[in-house]
Amino acid sequence: MGTDASQMKALVYRGPGSSAWEQVPMPVLVDDTDAIVRVDATTICGTDLHILKGDVPAVTAGRILGHEAVGTVETVGSGVKRVQPGDHVLVSCVSACGTCRFCREGRYGQCLGGGGWILGNLIDGTQAEHVRVPFADTSTYPAPEGVADEALLMLADILPTGYEVGVLNGQVRPGDVVAVVGAGPIGLSAIVGSRLYSPSHVVAIDLADSRLDAAKQFGADVVINNGREDPLAAILALTDGLGADVTIEAVGVPATFELATKLVRPGGRVANIGVHGEPVTLHLEELWNKDVTITTGLVDTCSTPTLLRLLRGSLLDGSLFATHHLPLESMEEAYDVFSRSDETGALKVVLTRSD
Ligand SMILES: NC(=O)c1ccc[n+]([C@@H]2O[C@H](COP(=O)([O-])OP(=O)(O)OC[C@H]3O[C@@H](n4cnc5c(N)ncnc54)[C@H](O)[C@@H]3O)[C@@H](O)[C@H]2O)c1
Ligand SMILES: [Zn+2]
Ligand SMILES: [Zn+2]
Repeated sequence: MGTDASQMKALVYRGPGSSAWEQVPMPVLVDDTDAIVRVDATTICGTDLHILKGDVPAVTAGRILGHEAVGTVETVGSGVKRVQPGDHVLVSCVSACGTCRFCREGRYGQCLGGGGWILGNLIDGTQAEHVRVPFADTSTYPAPEGVADEALLMLADILPTGYEVGVLNGQVRPGDVVAVVGAGPIGLSAIVGSRLYSPSHVVAIDLADSRLDAAKQFGADVVINNGREDPLAAILALTDGLGADVTIEAVGVPATFELATKLVRPGGRVANIGVHGEPVTLHLEELWNKDVTITTGLVDTCSTPTLLRLLRGSLLDGSLFATHHLPLESMEEAYDVFSRSDETGALKVVLTRSD
């Protein structure tokens, strides 16, 4: 922490392929519904890697990255009613104005009132010592007693994303065969979420053996390295030649979306989670008569209250994702560890303030 109270350190995006942990001005209240939160724990998302690849053009040079945090409220605007300085809170990756048409439907990701996924995207984010959180009343959750910060942190993004955009959109039902393409933190969250519905088989597909080992630990019954093995043959063998009831795409490249649409059975559901930076071919010449449903989605984090109850009831273990721990100021090292996850085995790198 610097001696100058008007300055702090943060991870600043400098354009495709470039970012640095540097000195920046402290955030200040802009709207009366804002809170300034001291970041106690933050982490890195696969989406941050997409941003660094240049896949998310809305993110411009100079932006502080990060959209996941657990922190302590320092100051609040005059319009903030429920959140107070000193409160220990989960900062959701999606901010919600709470009053627009989509927020009234719980569709916070599509907020029309200035919320949605803005942190580390359209406004400065959480990979910093402090962060301005807009709409603090409706964009934070009080930290439950007895839940470790690193476990709670997984409710900022990955667990709601896997659950809402994968499991709920894909309508996983008891007895289903669920194929999850991509076993990064998001795919693993989709596996964990699917298990809540008693599927007959969860099949994880990834190119990295380290991720497939994790998938087994998180509840996959079958793992397939699609660099070595044909996932279609394996799924057909499991399903009397029909295909998976639900396929969940959790990578965000054309090949994996196409694979997800190949693996689904007639009448099945394909739930895309991946952030795509380039056009993908939708093979309607093969799909038009298969009665499949394809869903897309940005996480709403409307399931956060449900997931908080599961966490408190020990029905969900967020800390399993926290494979690496570093102090906040080692952010650049954390990016290196996370981006080489096939070698490092990293799932989520948890960065915590050191004093
Ligand atoms: N829709 C949303 O709201 C939302 C929210 C958060 C993250 N995401 C997206 O979800 C995706 C996954 O996020 P993550 O944090 O788990 O990312 P990650 O980069 O950690 O994991 C991606 C996994 O995909 C695997 N993979 C890459 N190419 C593959 C291929 N051809 N076949 C099979 N596996 C392959 C990698 O080995 C890795 O394990 C990203 O695209 C991310 O941007 C979407
Ligand atoms: Zn994310
Ligand atoms: Zn709104």
